[in-house]
Amino acid sequence: MTSYKELGLVNTKEMFAKAVKGGYAIPAYNFNNMEQMQAIVQACVETKSPVILQVSSGARKYANKNLLKNMARGAVEYAHELGYDIPIVLHLDHGDTFELCKDCIESGFSSVMIDGSHLSYEENVALTKKVCDYAHSQKDYVTVEGELGVLAGVEDDVSAEESHYTKPEEVQDFVKKTGVDSLAISIGTSHGRQKFKPSQCTRSADGILIPPPLAFDVLAEIEKKLPGFPIVLHGSSSVPIEYVKEIEKYGGKLDDSVGIPEEQLRKAAKSAVCKINIDSDGRLAMTAAIRKVFAEQPSEFDPRKYLGPARDELKKLYSHKNKEVLGSAGQA
Ligand code: G3H
Ligand code: 13P
Ligand code: ZN
Repeated sequence: MTSYKELGLVNTKEMFAKAVKGGYAIPAYNFNNMEQMQAIVQACVETKSPVILQVSSGARKYANKNLLKNMARGAVEYAHELGYDIPIVLHLDHGDTFELCKDCIESGFSSVMIDGSHLSYEENVALTKKVCDYAHSQKDYVTVEGELGVLAGVEDDVSAEESHYTKPEEVQDFVKKTGVDSLAISIGTSHGRQKFKPSQCTRSADGILIPPPLAFDVLAEIEKKLPGFPIVLHGSSSVPIEYVKEIEKYGGKLDDSVGIPEEQLRKAAKSAVCKINIDSDGRLAMTAAIRKVFAEQPSEFDPRKYLGPARDELKKLYSHKNKEVLGSAGQA
């Protein structure tokens, strides 16, 4: 059993309280490898931003759970070495079983998500409560994120227009019965690079897809029911058209890509939304940089020569997010 405090990590409690009060959101960036971790820490130290390092169950399978745990410890030391100690959370993204959450808590995670959004309301309550009871009874309190409502895309086999928004009338009861520390909601975001079907969008003069707005009315209703309670937005990549074009210029094919416009995320961050999850944009940034090297320098075969530029592009992207979108820069 490793406590997250031994790794130099913090839970989300104080971080979220400050973010809700301050009208900004904490970045939750996924990582699977060293270059992603370096980029996240470099960007967050330079912008003086608190950060949530997110690990999915897929990341644990890909990279090995002990390596990831020790990379999180390394992240704390790396930030210190770079000259500024920022608060760092190690969070399980989309935990789907009690056992997985327990395993993560025992290996040093300071926060877990239990995603029971596919279950019936009663089953979701029961599973989320079980995880909260365990996480909160640890010597060092581990925070828990629950989810109500279903995002379209990878979370479900429903199409985007069938996305099930969170029902504001359920949120108070869910929070009370489970004891969750934060709540992920569905207001129109979804995972991946195709967040809406072209038929749901309009097009700009140059053919770029313009998505429909998020359901800010649903968010406002939820805030009214849970004043000051930390709300989480998944599926919040903006899918920058520059990266899509760059990838396609160098041989990729990413038809009908569309994300959540930055202005809408900025608006959400000023509300009770205090954690914004971003993974796909980082994948696009790295892929664009790597494809460019492969196309322009066909004889290059040193991984550092393409993973290095990918890392630099990722750092640039995350600095931009912290400063211009989430408002977390300067808050550490
Ligand atoms: O929400 C999912 C995250 O983007 C993680 O994706 O399960 O492929 O690691 P993954
Ligand atoms: P994106 O696919 O929009 O980056 O969402 C990531 C996410 O929600 C991770 O949990
Ligand atoms: Zn997610």
